[in-house]
Amino acid sequence: DRRTAQEALQRLTVDVADWPEKGVTFKDITPVLADHNAFSAIITALAAVGRDDHGTVVVDKVVGMEARGFILAAPVALALGVGFVPVRKAGKLPREAHAVSYSLEYGEATLEVHTDAITPGERVLMVDDVLATGGTAVATRRLIEACGGVATGASVLMELSFLGPRGVTGDLPVESLLTI
Ligand code: PRP
Repeated sequence: DRRTAQEALQRLTVDVADWPEKGVTFKDITPVLADHNAFSAIITALAAVGRDDHGTVVVDKVVGMEARGFILAAPVALALGVGFVPVRKAGKLPREAHAVSYSLEYGEATLEVHTDAITPGERVLMVDDVLATGGTAVATRRLIEACGGVATGASVLMELSFLGPRGVTGDLPVESLLTI
């Protein structure tokens, strides 16, 4: 359940000081992924967002954001019995794609999705490891909407509340297992 997943995340996530740059503490979730019980618990907890109170699946697709989002979103899609869609960094997708650029602390980033990956009207859940500034989630929502889909929300392991992502994600529902 959710509690088991939260405990596993707290116990196994390793804080790495000053990585990838000085002053930043990186949340390394690889030990969580390496533990089958912990991995299984976090996937079940992330997937719960794609069901209603009766346990009925209420989404048509699950989107994962490159790269760590892929590791989580693909098993969530399988757990919900729906398809998986990758949102990739610029220049990786081979066919016609929508692109959305957004600003980072320094510079710009672009994310892309195949135009036919989501059918108009489909309800789409985003899954990622961390919600930091919220820029990735907002750009992904715009990509889903560019396809004609409906972004039902984001399900993440951790939310770095001190970076103020909620001011950026606005009315997008975000469920995080841990708030830091
Ligand atoms: C990280 C993380 C999220 C994003 C969150 O990915 O996995 O996708 O940043 O940050 P934001 O809320 O400020 O947008 P990163 O870009 O480091 O890519 P990676 O998964 O390929 O390492």
